[in-house]
Amino acid sequence: MSIVADITLGEYMSEQHWAAVLKKTWNITAQLSRLDGEYDLNFLVTGDDGQDYVLKAMRPGCATWLVDMQIQALKHIGTHSPDLPCPAVVPTPKGASMLELADETGALRLVWLQTRLPGRCYAEIIPKSQELIHHIGQVLGSAASALQGFQHNGLQRKFKWDLMQAGWITTRLNCVSDSNRRAILDDIAQDYSIIEPTLAELPKQAIHNDANDYNILVSGTLNGPRRVSGLIDLGDMCAAPRICDLAIAAAYVVLDHPTPETALAALVSGYHDANPLSPAEIDLLWPLLRARLAVSVVNSTLEAEKNPDDPYVVISQAPAWRFLEGQSIHRDLLTARLRAACNLPVVDGADRVMAYLNAKRGSFAPLMGTDLTDTPMGSLSVEASTWPQNPFHMPMEEAARVGEEFGDELWLGYYHEPRLIYAEPSFRKGPYKASDRRTVHLAVDGFAPADTPLYAPLRGEVFIVENRDTHLDYGGVIILRHETPDGDEFFTLYGHLNPECCTRLRPGDAVEKGAEFCRLGDASQNGGWAPHVHFQLALTTKGIETDWPGVGDPDEMYMWRAVCPNPAALLNVPDDKVHYRPTNKAEVLADRKAHFSSNLSLTYTDPVMLVRGWKHHLFDEWGRPYLDAYNNVPHVGHAHPRIQAVAADQLKRMNSNTRYLHPAQTAFAKKILSKLPAPFEVCFFVNSGTEANELALRLARAHTGAKGMVTPDHGYHGNTTGVIDVSAYKFNAPGGSGQVDWVELIEVADDYRGSFTRDDPIRAQKFADLVDPAILALQDKGHGVAGFIAETFPSVGGQIIPPKGYLAAVYKKIRAAGGLCIADEVQTGLGRLGDYYFGFEQQGALPDIVVIGKPIGNGHPLGVLVTTKAIADSFAQGPEFFSTFGGSTLSCRIGKEVLDIVDDEGLQDNARRMGAKLIAGLKALEVKYACVGDVRGMGLFLGLELINQNGSQASNTCAYIKNRMRDHRILIGSEGPKDNILKIRPPLTIDDEGVGMILTTLDQILAELDPA
Ligand SMILES: Cc1ncc(COP(=O)(O)O)c(C=O)c1O
Repeated sequence: MSIVADITLGEYMSEQHWAAVLKKTWNITAQLSRLDGEYDLNFLVTGDDGQDYVLKAMRPGCATWLVDMQIQALKHIGTHSPDLPCPAVVPTPKGASMLELADETGALRLVWLQTRLPGRCYAEIIPKSQELIHHIGQVLGSAASALQGFQHNGLQRKFKWDLMQAGWITTRLNCVSDSNRRAILDDIAQDYSIIEPTLAELPKQAIHNDANDYNILVSGTLNGPRRVSGLIDLGDMCAAPRICDLAIAAAYVVLDHPTPETALAALVSGYHDANPLSPAEIDLLWPLLRARLAVSVVNSTLEAEKNPDDPYVVISQAPAWRFLEGQSIHRDLLTARLRAACNLPVVDGADRVMAYLNAKRGSFAPLMGTDLTDTPMGSLSVEASTWPQNPFHMPMEEAARVGEEFGDELWLGYYHEPRLIYAEPSFRKGPYKASDRRTVHLAVDGFAPADTPLYAPLRGEVFIVENRDTHLDYGGVIILRHETPDGDEFFTLYGHLNPECCTRLRPGDAVEKGAEFCRLGDASQNGGWAPHVHFQLALTTKGIETDWPGVGDPDEMYMWRAVCPNPAALLNVPDDKVHYRPTNKAEVLADRKAHFSSNLSLTYTDPVMLVRGWKHHLFDEWGRPYLDAYNNVPHVGHAHPRIQAVAADQLKRMNSNTRYLHPAQTAFAKKILSKLPAPFEVCFFVNSGTEANELALRLARAHTGAKGMVTPDHGYHGNTTGVIDVSAYKFNAPGGSGQVDWVELIEVADDYRGSFTRDDPIRAQKFADLVDPAILALQDKGHGVAGFIAETFPSVGGQIIPPKGYLAAVYKKIRAAGGLCIADEVQTGLGRLGDYYFGFEQQGALPDIVVIGKPIGNGHPLGVLVTTKAIADSFAQGPEFFSTFGGSTLSCRIGKEVLDIVDDEGLQDNARRMGAKLIAGLKALEVKYACVGDVRGMGLFLGLELINQNGSQASNTCAYIKNRMRDHRILIGSEGPKDNILKIRPPLTIDDEGVGMILTTLDQILAELDPA
């Protein structure tokens, strides 16, 4: 206790002292607070003039040249690159940049003042996005450009942090006793000694030399882009090749990064944008990065020997060891990646090989024995093809028939084409079906009958010949090595062959141009596929050796396009003929902006374009999978085969309307009525929830002769003029039409945030009593009470489950006033709630009209209104009712099929079980994270309310989580008057894996907001 008090007092005295110095010397009146610093005193200065500064009082004995070097460098940057986010030196009114002044103990220190830059240090920023890392690269590249002409004697310093002098560790490695770690360091030292001569030949210049994650400041808002706002602390500057500067930043950027290779690609390409690097420099990055980490761990191990009681020294090594021990990054492949990220040849000579192939296009021997110029193309793309039906499993029978729609004769499959045929878990990069997945084809396919001979396009030497006979592999495969006349090598791969080639060819055998060297295998020989050759070009085998990926992750194509470019030249066809280009999302977005109204909203900062689906997963145009945790329209799952079959079958026959008899109409009606209690006897089929609610209003008026409606606030019942008037969510929105006088709003029965909360046992009745004044108001205005309309569980209002008994109490009052009770079950009906088929069952209430909407069509436009005979009879007194498409044969068959599937596949029970797991997991997150205010819901109708520290609605947090979930490939929604409630409402097919993915990912994202 007394020690703490002493320190506090000491710091206070120090701050007082330096505040006085600042006033006296710089004439700045300010509050000071101490900042972290290893040896020097650094203070954050909050000036009364509204300016912030950083005051630096160097350690006693600090060399003048060290401070002068920094001051001169900052001045140089300020003059040559004023836009760089580096601090400016603030001179005293007398013009001094640095002074020697006594501290409170009388010791002399060099003292100087800088402007303070905004932002938090990069170490504290989560997530560390590619865009931010790219910007770090740009800033570093610009800083190196700015410092290029800077000279100072101090730059020639001799010290351990100069990567050119990293060889010093070689004689000190024995300080690390763990033999595995020693071996890693030996390896690094060995690599370093190899590059040392190359390094020595590179031009030297002034570099920052310490862009660690505490010397980079980052600014930006939660939902906005994050940008580098400061590059600080030039205290480690020296003269060295600029690649050393980048390697040091890289050594920090990779630590604990989930995808270090992509982080490095972002960093290096950012640097290259600002300050172009040569391929030779890029090749040094990996050994230099590792050398820097080795210097760090050796240095801190030696420090630990000096200070054995300081645990921090060892703790600080942990991330570096985690990286050095845990990564299996292939140096050559990483180098190829970094070169590709900078648009440089992936290996020396790659550009010459491509120029050679281009020049020789048209003169290669025909691979398939024929001119391919006019050979038809067949697309197996995510957009164009439906192979396989289930994008998570390719059954043998489907693999053997892939592309049969393009016929038995010769046709070509595209290069660069995203496909879902690579369905098995081995193509995934994570544990979930929605994890990143390799989809983009890196070859051209030649589909032709089995046994078709192949001819070598040019002379080559057999590099590998093998039979890879596991299912969906290549079967027979040959890789040939080629050389251009200039001696640059490249390789071609031929997969799915008849493995008889393995008995004839050996590695090293020559294959002459035009020689028949193998034949296409059949499905029993070629991995199980429809007969074809997979023809792939590679400019290097370093890092892929003999096991080349045949497909790449769409987000890694910048690399794979460069390693395995389009082989069209070798086929004597133009690149464009075989190069697939998925629909351009940006163009679709632009067209949408041009041709659709701007109040048609689009979800996500970076919208998704979805082209395929299966159960509770969706795929974008690149085949990236998403877990659909939001859409209730595909009630029984996307692309359900039974719905496809019923729709196709009915469309083959005819599609007509309710003016003619058809058994599908009555069968559908009976199926719905079987799910409802006895008083419900009559169905109306319409096209949408909107139309059903519109009709409900007409029925209520017809039956009661009154017009007035009571409805909860923030409700939504559809988009037409009539139902907008009972949808406060719309009429009260900015620009909305406002409230009409025949509608009375009552407070939503939200017992988390509303007037009566969960600790009040009679809250249901209290909420219901709010109906009384509404009824009186309608009666006073002469409208009478036609009825009450409510989403049984308010959804857009925030996924609210009213207290039990609420609806029953409301209905009683409405009926007493002569009105009808309309239950809008669009969101809650058809088994979604798990324990209940309809929401009103949970409330112990019996409505007069039930409205069923979108889920009943599983994507086909369909709505249903169900009511009693008496109410239908009242309506029948009026003119004929007719909805052309509502009762169409097709709609009736689809609607019934959906309800049958819910029963046959036990989906209501699945909703109950998966919902219970989700709620349990979400409740655990509620305990763990303060920003989770409430978890509520039932079955697969769930809400997670996000709150600020003061309990208010945290809309920004909600938007952040929604967008981050999308980054992690989970589609989720947000609701509530303040848009602060995460809405989880997946198709009823969701399974344990999907639930696990939602909960794990949500946990991860909440931790970004609220780190432990
Ligand atoms: C509760 C509720 N009622 C009615 C509707 C309107 O349905 P539709 O868009 O099919 O017309 C919706 C649509 O979201 C809804 O959520």
